[in-house]
Amino acid sequence: MVQQHDEPQARRQAAVRSDDVPVNPIHSPTFGDVVARRLGRREFLKGTLAVSAAAGAFAISPMTLLGGCAAEPASAGGHFDFPELDAGVDATHHVAAGYAADVLIRWGDPVLPDAPAFDPMNQSADAQERQFGYNNDYIGFAPLPIGSHGSDHALLCVNHEYTCQELMFPNYAGHTAQTVEIEMAAHGASIVEVRRGDGGKWSYVPNSRYNRRISTRSTTVVVSGPAVGHDRLKTTADPSGRRVIGTVSNCAGGMTPWGTYLLAEENFQCYFGGELAEDHREQSNHRRYGLPDGEYGWHRYHQRFDVGREPNEPNRFGWIVEVDPYNPAATPVKRTALGRFKHEGAAVALNADNRVVVYMGDDQRFEYVYKFVSQGRHDPYDREANHKLLDSGTLFVAKFREDGTFDWMPLVFGTGALTPRNGFASQADVVIEARRAADLLGATPMDRPEDVEANPKTGRVYVMLSNNSKRKPGNTNAVNPRGPNPHGHIVELTPEGGDHVAIRGRWDLLVVCGDPKNPDSGAQWHPKVTADGWFTDPDNCAVDNRGRLWITTDGNSAEATGRSDGVWALESEGELRGLPRHFFRVPAGAEMTGPMFAPDDESLFLSVQHPASHGEQWPAFGRKSTFEDPSTRWPDFQPNMPPRPSVVVVTKQGGGKIG
Ligand code: FEO
Ligand code: CA
Ligand code: CA
Ligand code: CA
Repeated sequence: MVQQHDEPQARRQAAVRSDDVPVNPIHSPTFGDVVARRLGRREFLKGTLAVSAAAGAFAISPMTLLGGCAAEPASAGGHFDFPELDAGVDATHHVAAGYAADVLIRWGDPVLPDAPAFDPMNQSADAQERQFGYNNDYIGFAPLPIGSHGSDHALLCVNHEYTCQELMFPNYAGHTAQTVEIEMAAHGASIVEVRRGDGGKWSYVPNSRYNRRISTRSTTVVVSGPAVGHDRLKTTADPSGRRVIGTVSNCAGGMTPWGTYLLAEENFQCYFGGELAEDHREQSNHRRYGLPDGEYGWHRYHQRFDVGREPNEPNRFGWIVEVDPYNPAATPVKRTALGRFKHEGAAVALNADNRVVVYMGDDQRFEYVYKFVSQGRHDPYDREANHKLLDSGTLFVAKFREDGTFDWMPLVFGTGALTPRNGFASQADVVIEARRAADLLGATPMDRPEDVEANPKTGRVYVMLSNNSKRKPGNTNAVNPRGPNPHGHIVELTPEGGDHVAIRGRWDLLVVCGDPKNPDSGAQWHPKVTADGWFTDPDNCAVDNRGRLWITTDGNSAEATGRSDGVWALESEGELRGLPRHFFRVPAGAEMTGPMFAPDDESLFLSVQHPASHGEQWPAFGRKSTFEDPSTRWPDFQPNMPPRPSVVVVTKQGGGKIG
């Protein structure tokens, strides 16, 4: 979800507002958590690591393990050699010379066999629940048939994070019962069969038996893990505390080694309204998550989104949801063992000992980085057993030290401060109030942790820190070195011994983003960075199958940086470490999300989210962007068609690996 810095735009006021008011009571600048520095500013871009992952065990790509055979460990390979794209802003998308970038599926395209054609002037919730949803974000690639490593036939698993009413609905003048129903249908996810055909072009299969829509409106989702059936999850509609209608604000996600799809519930506070009595037992819990925000107005039409009437309903959102894309009848599951917060994503690494590690960011200013370590081990020959792996294990939160080391601290009921004395009666309370539990352990508040991605080739892990305009100059520390931090940075973690289960490791700054020519920016890049190569606001990250990093951004604009959001390749190893190169850019107003490579690295799937937003920030347009008067009508450019969030697939002209 786009979260602009200090100037909320018409769209996404909710997330911006909640983000402008940090809710971490311990670490917000108001409370002045000034860090005593033991060391000066860390040296950047050293390219050497005190702990070499290469000496230890290797993680293995989930994709490789799907079929049950292990990959050869290898060093991350090769420098990027594509011709760099010019940075800039205009009405359409652009990719580096020598590549094609084709629209694969758009908001409103039919997904289910009985879906009607998209008719923007006559939308309905029933139609939307059968069509591709709004604001596609995470993209998972599940090869077909199941267990294969194929790169030309798959199920795309695509999140639909949120809605932009002014761009979606004709003559929008505030929510109505009908627009709310359509929005609830437009959230969630789409699972769509896709094929690469003759000539190397991709298309989706509209009538596939695998195609599925998951929505906030009608999909039944069950709960599992420590909080299942807990009193704090019980509502009028669900006295069992075990069955939730829908999933919401699905931002990034992940794929597991057993071929399931993880959706991260992020800004769930936006969808709740109403008022809760000051002395209600859930009041402080809700405040810690910025609840209720009320932006969407859903509570006016659905009692469950009114916290005054259903104070436990918010406790049923903010989880990681697991879906089996290969079984269209499978019920999605909220895995509460992974904690409740504003989940950006869920990057799965399979440890050398077959335990499953899920890295997760909590995307708000001054929030934390987490990981979950499964108790059980992945068995490539028992898919059914693997479906239970995310129910038992240990949730950890990261504490970063000034000396370049970090610790993972366990969030386990009964240990440390996580006891009845502090209001925790069980592990259910710990996962429901994961943020407060992490506060008590002294976790390190970060500059908006977005995607976290493990590199299976090197064992290193990358944390995207998007920005933090609220960090004060006196509240910086080595791992969050700028106050304010308008442009974000990327932290590299090296788990001790290359072991994702290790409870300590070393960290380093890979890059500090911003304009390298501006001496005040504090940007840190490889000296060869070009005028097109730098970026700001790193959000999502992909590691290609050669172990190279690709970054996508959320926050560049004509106003802020003179460039659209997009994709930048980023060297992370060797002499060129810290050198970015611009590869793809989105149309005006959009954000770039969902980067996912097919296993052969010949196709890169990208999500273009909220095209035409923030019309005021593009001088060539310079006004509010609406359905009637959008800043771009990408991708159709038809006078009667609004802008449409879409999935784009990049391939190399004439074939071959990307980059
Ligand atoms: Fe939905 Fe953190 O971006
Ligand atoms: Ca987003
Ligand atoms: Ca973002
Ligand atoms: Ca994001």
